[in-house]
Amino acid sequence: MPDTDVVILKALLQANSNFVSGNLLAGELGISRVGVWARLEKLREEGFGVEAIRHRGYRLTGEPPSINENLVRAYLDLGGSKTDFIFRREVESTNTEAEKELADGRKTPFAVLAQRQTKGRGRMGRQWHSMDEGNLYASFAFRPQLPPAQMTMITLWMGVQLCRYINERLSLPAQIKWPNDIVSGGKKLCGILAEARIDSDRTRDLIFGIGINVNSDCTGWPAETAAVATSLASIGGRPLRINLVAAELVEVVCRAYERYVAGDYAPEIFELWNRYDALAGLVVRGSKGREEIVGTAKGIDEHGNLLLALEDGSIRRIQAGEVSIGTKNLASFLPAKN
Ligand code: BTN
Repeated sequence: MPDTDVVILKALLQANSNFVSGNLLAGELGISRVGVWARLEKLREEGFGVEAIRHRGYRLTGEPPSINENLVRAYLDLGGSKTDFIFRREVESTNTEAEKELADGRKTPFAVLAQRQTKGRGRMGRQWHSMDEGNLYASFAFRPQLPPAQMTMITLWMGVQLCRYINERLSLPAQIKWPNDIVSGGKKLCGILAEARIDSDRTRDLIFGIGINVNSDCTGWPAETAAVATSLASIGGRPLRINLVAAELVEVVCRAYERYVAGDYAPEIFELWNRYDALAGLVVRGSKGREEIVGTAKGIDEHGNLLLALEDGSIRRIQAGEVSIGTKNLASFLPAKN
């Protein structure tokens, strides 16, 4: 039985800023018109803009600026999605919540969305600042049951699909910086933290934690942060409907996962990588064990390794870690020659 608020929100969203009659809503929900009015008052308290006009009904004039469980459900329902999702106001980390749910045997796939995180985790043991409720903190849990060797490209695949979503659906410029940072104008927009539990020969659990800076006001950030990070609202010059972005993210990630496990990701991954590669043609510094390698980035190979062309023309592969960017000039990273 769908929640009353979800039914109301779906009707208001479908009306597309037009009025929906109170009588119609009352009939659909099997409640009185006063009951409908009371629900709409509650939605106003949650941050929805609702205009009410006698004899015309109600229309939606604004959405809450942070994640609202019923609104995400309404958007998912309207898009025909059946994906199970858990909403939390505050968690330590949505990845940790997803881990607990997997350990309790919850059916996959499912998503965990939170308004804020108190211990958001980033890659390489870093912290992910997560107190701004205008941003998205989401984790997606799967049980792939595939050999680890078949999973090597999945995080890169997710990255390019997210990049495509931002470029094509949101019409905002974003690029992928190997291995899976999504950047715009060289500043970080979105990060992916993939965590897997591997049995002897199978990937048992897989969690994708995705943080997207959606509506953060970068003008209030400390200079060091503003120099390296940005938000969708900053690059687009207008706030986005975060609940719609959340529902679309659920769909993009679940669809990308299904396609990956069905083996349907090549050649598309390489086409998208070439289209959105933030490093292409730049001189970067990476590492292989203790060895430092400097070369010009030439895309990825069939295992997701970063290809670097060295000064002598040879190609080296970087398997893991991070790279730093120099200028277009290889010499900027190399010791000066006499
Ligand atoms: C990175 O370092 O680039 C990865 C950042 C991933 C952050 C997200 S926010 C939702 C999920 N929960 C976490 O604790 N981390 C990920």
